[in-house]
Amino acid sequence: MIDAACGAEVLRGAAGVDPPRWAVISGSGLSGIVDAFDVRRTLGYSEVPGFPVATVAGHPGRVSLAKASGVPVWICQGRPHFYEHGDMRPIASFVRALLDAGVTRLLLTNAAGALNPQYRPGDVMVIADHLFLPGLTGHHPLLGPNDPRGERFPALAGAYDLSLRAALSQALGHAGLMVREGTYAMVAGPSYETPAETVLLRRLGADAVGMSTAPEVVVARHAGATVGALSTITNVAGNDEPGDAGHSAVVDVASTAAPRIGAALAAVVWQSGEG
Ligand code: HPA
Repeated sequence: MIDAACGAEVLRGAAGVDPPRWAVISGSGLSGIVDAFDVRRTLGYSEVPGFPVATVAGHPGRVSLAKASGVPVWICQGRPHFYEHGDMRPIASFVRALLDAGVTRLLLTNAAGALNPQYRPGDVMVIADHLFLPGLTGHHPLLGPNDPRGERFPALAGAYDLSLRAALSQALGHAGLMVREGTYAMVAGPSYETPAETVLLRRLGADAVGMSTAPEVVVARHAGATVGALSTITNVAGNDEPGDAGHSAVVDVASTAAPRIGAALAAVVWQSGEG
């Protein structure tokens, strides 16, 4: 985890005397949330060891030092995905670089397909819990020697902080979005689900499905950070346009919601204060 320590040093150097305790990670099509913040300085991910080289449309690969009404926050536009690397370690390095730089509160966003039949594209789901399917089947970011930032067997009940969940729901509602609260299923991707797989995931109790977030939450909770997360519902799972057309539809819906989601996240950071 040398990369994370070096990355943290770069971030700390860029932040100066007032390093952010907050970080926001934007998912597919959501990089526009940065416009809701007062940006002071932006680095490319290639300048920050441990940060990923972005390979996916809708993930620009920039980290901005910003403020939400005076409260400092890192806004990360882009994240590493398991399907890009076939490895969870880049995800652990990315999150740990932020944590080592002083972040204690992480807000994660993603684009997801609806499994719950009541959900519609454009809705936003505050994540209450997750099914980490790659993790359950042996692709887990905490495999191997225990990282000293946390204990060997971290508990994940209550991983999604209750007061952040309430603050997110309230702020997203104020921003004019249809707010849901539910369970996120993380699949490896990169293929979208078959109709039969969506039936399976629904029966398992998931409300939305995507290809990110759960491993970041696990790494952050292992190290004791406070986590809040949301999914922009961009499509009905199992019912997608084929191939890259599907991904650009996902990016289109998410980018339409991005200004309102950005406003809500800025309000949560500002109202919850320095943490
Ligand atoms: N499935 C998996 N990941 C996704 C989807 C989906 O339907 N939509 C956006 N990300």
